[in-house]
Amino acid sequence: MNVLKEKGIPLEKQIRTWNDIVKRPYNRFDVDNYSRTRQILLNGIEVESWGFKHAFVRKCSDSDLNKVLVNIRRIEDMQQTTVNWLCPVNQTVLDTTLGYEQVAVDLTAWLAQNEPDEYVKEAFNFGLLEDFDHLYRYAQFAYMIEETDPNEILHEMTDVTLARPTQYHHNDNAIRIRIPYDKDKTSPITKVNILTLVSAEQQTHNFYAEHGFMYGNRDLKRLYAEICDIEEEHVTMYESLIDPNESWFEKWLLHEFTEVCNYYNCYKDEVCDKLKMIWEEMFQMEIEHLKIAAEMFEKYEQRDPEEIIGTELILPCHFESQKEYVTNIIENEVDKRLCGDLHYKKVNELSEDWPSYKVQECVNKDGAPSEKAVRLAKKSIGRDIACADKKLLDKQAELLERSLEPKYQAPNTVKPEKYEKFKKIPPLEFLNE
Ligand SMILES: [Fe+2]
Ligand SMILES: [Fe+2]
Ligand SMILES: [Fe+2]
Ligand SMILES: [Fe+2]
Repeated sequence: MNVLKEKGIPLEKQIRTWNDIVKRPYNRFDVDNYSRTRQILLNGIEVESWGFKHAFVRKCSDSDLNKVLVNIRRIEDMQQTTVNWLCPVNQTVLDTTLGYEQVAVDLTAWLAQNEPDEYVKEAFNFGLLEDFDHLYRYAQFAYMIEETDPNEILHEMTDVTLARPTQYHHNDNAIRIRIPYDKDKTSPITKVNILTLVSAEQQTHNFYAEHGFMYGNRDLKRLYAEICDIEEEHVTMYESLIDPNESWFEKWLLHEFTEVCNYYNCYKDEVCDKLKMIWEEMFQMEIEHLKIAAEMFEKYEQRDPEEIIGTELILPCHFESQKEYVTNIIENEVDKRLCGDLHYKKVNELSEDWPSYKVQECVNKDGAPSEKAVRLAKKSIGRDIACADKKLLDKQAELLERSLEPKYQAPNTVKPEKYEKFKKIPPLEFLNE
């Protein structure tokens, strides 16, 4: 489908009543887990598109152009309200948090497998393992604070166990920066993939920053602070892959195209009729936004928008279980670290003066909240909360052993010997409890 030739909803008809803007939320108990991940992701996509237009208008002295931008921006804002507020009031912050990390794991795995640029793919796989470990750390608290079985949210589509430990995701921010793609040589699929992931990670950061304080438990609050900081690193890493030489019009075009592609993909995959109708309506709105961005691109840059977005739709967010792919990445990359030369190293190759040591020694000096999470669960049930194939669970000690840094471990690190003991205790069976 060449979306530039499709008909959307005219912009003047995109202003809706409050009843249309605020829909009835989905049901926490019977929503499909991937309907939830679509809702979480599309909210992030809208926030990015809205924030981008604010930055654009602040840089732009052309009042005619600003009038166009502010009118579309208002619609993005209304769309964001519609999408975000589909989340029901009885879905707790921790429930939603498990949903956010499920988005990060299964979306990143999908993107990595469909990414033609090997360097970008490697960055996706690297970040994937970190979000996978976040899910594990949060699951400890979801059980301890709210007695939640992680599969009430994940529906057994995503495993819960350790990967590269969260205490090691803290870096000197400068070594997160990657090499940007070349805007003139890179395919639209790579550009859309990256922008989709940047939007998801940025929104994850914002959600933790704005909700972590809502729990009175000091250890959980500190875990939110710890992981919020890592999501900031993830945004730093993924956004640095974008060519900074793209013009504002080029970026605008890519933002609208990314919205079109994500809504189309969600519409196509959606199993809930009510949500499917919403994604379809939003898709038709975005077609019009894209058309306007394309006209502006032609007018101001005298270039053909197809040079940037091509003629085909892209599917950047198909959700399905990625357990096998993720297990494979865990086994191959658990001991990988970022390196100052824009590439990666294994833990045993790190030099004494590796810049991230300093950061880790500082933030984890009094112990890492992500290690405390497992210690507290162990106190409560004798082992951690983990849901995965027995084969993978039995490898916890070995994987941890490989991923520990020789020079630095937080003082409260749960050691491989402890995980060795977990093998003898069956994982908590929520149904039989
Ligand atoms: Fe939008
Ligand atoms: Fe995460
Ligand atoms: Fe992340
Ligand atoms: Fe838009």
